[in-house]
Amino acid sequence: MQTTIHGRQLSFSPVGILWLKLAVLYLILGVLLGIAMGASENFTLRPVHAHINLLGWATMAVAGLIYILFPEAASSRLARFHFWLTNLALPVMMIALTLLLLGYRAVVPVLALSEIVAVLGLICFALNIFLNLKKS
Ligand code: HEM
Repeated sequence: MQTTIHGRQLSFSPVGILWLKLAVLYLILGVLLGIAMGASENFTLRPVHAHINLLGWATMAVAGLIYILFPEAASSRLARFHFWLTNLALPVMMIALTLLLLGYRAVVPVLALSEIVAVLGLICFALNIFLNLKKS
């Protein structure tokens, strides 16, 4: 996607835009859960609410903005690993955490695995920032 600002042609990374769209979905989900907790006065799922908002909304939105600012980082192989590892792990992690908090202890291995995959995604993100963020 391209736009012109002050006579300069800027191109926005479609990957960055996709991250932002996914992030805002997590924001809506997170605040709906917050409202549901407040309305029901049942705060059992507080950690799910916090992680949907902070990993789903905040962290993913920051990643999207970084990829929009630095398109070379957005097109790297590390960015693709970051995208798929995060977006496969996070929904599983949130569902497994919900079930655990509701008392289903059998989900612990699934939760642990999804957490490891999520961290691997974030390690790819960190490596991508160190290796592929260019000043130009
Ligand atoms: C309409 C929006 C929101 C509503 C209605 C809402 C509601 C709540 C409620 C009811 C709690 C539990 C409070 C308690 O236990 O006393 C909570 C905790 C929390 N919320 Fe939200 N929230 C909203 C947005 C957000 C956003 C946007 C973020 C982060 C980006 C966030 C992060 C947190 C965190 C970190 C906690 C503490 C979790 C914990 O102690 O385990 N919330 N929120």
